[in-house]
Amino acid sequence: MILNIAHRGFSAEYPENTLLSFEKALELGVTWLELDLQVTSDEHLVVMHDGRVDRTTDGSGLVSEKTLEQVRLLDAGIWRGDAFKETRVPTFDQVLEAFGSRARIVVELKFEGQEAIPAVLDAIASTGQRDRIVISSFDLPKLPIVKALAPDAAITALLKANGRSPEELIETTLGLGADTIAPRCNEIDVTLVDHAHQAGLLVRAWGLGRDQGQEMTRLIDLGVDGMTTDCPDILQRILLDRNLV
Ligand code: G3P
Ligand code: CA
Repeated sequence: MILNIAHRGFSAEYPENTLLSFEKALELGVTWLELDLQVTSDEHLVVMHDGRVDRTTDGSGLVSEKTLEQVRLLDAGIWRGDAFKETRVPTFDQVLEAFGSRARIVVELKFEGQEAIPAVLDAIASTGQRDRIVISSFDLPKLPIVKALAPDAAITALLKANGRSPEELIETTLGLGADTIAPRCNEIDVTLVDHAHQAGLLVRAWGLGRDQGQEMTRLIDLGVDGMTTDCPDILQRILLDRNLV
C-alpha cells in the first residue's frame, strides 16, 4: 500500500497547517496528514512550518518569542486570500483532538532544540493512540532522543542526500533508530528503494508539489511506500486509477 500523506494538509489549495487544510485533505479520502511543530515562548506546541510567523500569517517575528495568546490572534489564512480570513494557527492539541482518531499523522519536529520533545510525546500519549502517529525530523539528533523516550514510536528520518550514496543514507537512518527513510523525491532511485527495503526500512518521498503527476508515477513504479505531497488530490487520483487504494 502506498501512503498518500497530505503535506501541511491540502496545502496546494488551502492555508497550510490549519484545521481547514487538514479537513479538506480528509474530504479527498486521504487518511494521512503531515504537520510541523513550533514552540511558543510560554512552551505551547503550535502547528506552523516556519520559525517566523511572517510568511503564513498577518504578523511578524519569531514564534518562540510570542505567547500562545499572541499566536492565537494571528490570521493564518488571509495570505492565501480573503476567503480564508480569520483562519487560526492551531495548537498541536487541537489537531490531535480533531484528527487523532480520523487520520494518521506525521508530526515533524521543526522547533529549535530538544527541550520540547517530551511535551510532544506526552501530547501524543494522552490521545491513547500513539501507534497512529509518526515522528519525523530533518534535525536528525532529535530522533534517537525520541527513540529513547518512546521506543515503540514510528520514526521517519527526513534527509537531503547532499551527494551521499544510498548506502550512506540507509546507514545513517538505521543508526538513528528510524524505521523510515525519507529523501527528497528527486533523490530516490531504484537502488535506494531496493537497498532500503532489504535493510527493513520503508521509503517515503517528499517535495511533491504541483505538476508532479509524472514524478508520482515514477515513484510508484519504483516501489516507494508513501509520498508526502501538497497535492494529495492528484496522488489520490493516480492511486485510484491504478487500483492502489
Ligand atoms: O515530510 C517532509 C516535508 O515536510 C518536507 O519538508 O520543509 O515541507 O517541512 P518541509
Ligand atoms: Ca514538514
